[in-house]
Amino acid sequence: MEYRHIPVLPAEVTQHLSPHDGAIIVDCTLGGAGHAKRIAELIAPTGILVGIDQDDAALAAARDILPLGRQTILIKGNFADLDRLLVDAGVPYVDGFLFDLGVSSPQLDVGGRGFTYQEDVPLDMRMDTSSSQPTAADIINTYSETQLTHIIREYGEERWASRIAAFIVAARAHHPITTTGELVEIVKAAIPAGARREGGHPARRSFQALRIEVNHELEALERGLDAAIRWLVPEGRIVVISYHSLEDRVVKRVFAEHAQGCVCPPDVPVCTCGHVPVLRIITRRPVVPTEQEIAQNPRSRSAKLRSAEKI
Ligand SMILES: C[S@@+](CC[C@H](N)C(=O)[O-])C[C@H]1O[C@@H](n2cnc3c(N)ncnc32)[C@H](O)[C@@H]1O
Repeated sequence: MEYRHIPVLPAEVTQHLSPHDGAIIVDCTLGGAGHAKRIAELIAPTGILVGIDQDDAALAAARDILPLGRQTILIKGNFADLDRLLVDAGVPYVDGFLFDLGVSSPQLDVGGRGFTYQEDVPLDMRMDTSSSQPTAADIINTYSETQLTHIIREYGEERWASRIAAFIVAARAHHPITTTGELVEIVKAAIPAGARREGGHPARRSFQALRIEVNHELEALERGLDAAIRWLVPEGRIVVISYHSLEDRVVKRVFAEHAQGCVCPPDVPVCTCGHVPVLRIITRRPVVPTEQEIAQNPRSRSAKLRSAEKI
């Protein structure tokens, strides 16, 4: 099956990553290799592209698109384990990292993955379907009402979280909730009719929350960014595209922590913390797609690009 994903902010990624011949660039979210293909061309003939994805379908698509050989290393794995993945692959250092977060269009569109409320399929949502981690159905049927409220409120930023959790617990008392369609109906019933008309599809926020919980997305992002910053050479770049405010907040905070100098209290005469900045933030404000890009690729609408340079 054809893997169709239109890369978001392609010119801006190239501009911020500034890949040059001979560079070692790691694309931590290979997807359909849209960005990676362009990067591979710009670092050829001597550069090395390392592509990581936890989704087998993405890696299979990338193999068809990228020039294969000694200059391309493709790795199945989670960027939360970046240190181990790069050590195992024998990567000596890195000139640039790209994180283009979230799910790809095929993960949403190709039936059966359970990421979208637009179809009625089993509630799975694992990006790595070969893993033994709990699925969305496991979470929906086993978490306590308090835990469900917490994840739907925190990761979905859903104001009706406690009602939705109560409705889920009441529904699963009759029989396990196993499909996206059942969950959509429960969420719809839990949100009062007046509120249902605002803010897009009523199940959008609950689905986002579950996806983040199933894939531990925010913890993975924080671990991946911390590791990436350690691996970068001086003047190496890290570029991150996020698609919702929770991800963007993590990126902003991790960049700010690494860009900060002395954190001693102002009344201390001599620095004792020894804190030195290791990053220079390039994007004070996030870069967003143009109206033209959004018109051509509506899924780019919520994208925010932030970049930083190792000092
Ligand atoms: C938005 S897509 C990337 C699209 C890609 N930049 C392109 O141009 O085709 C995000 C990809 O990142 C992968 N992904 C998300 N979180 C991941 C993680 N923690 N570790 C590895 N891959 C991850 C997903 O499986 C998906 O294929």
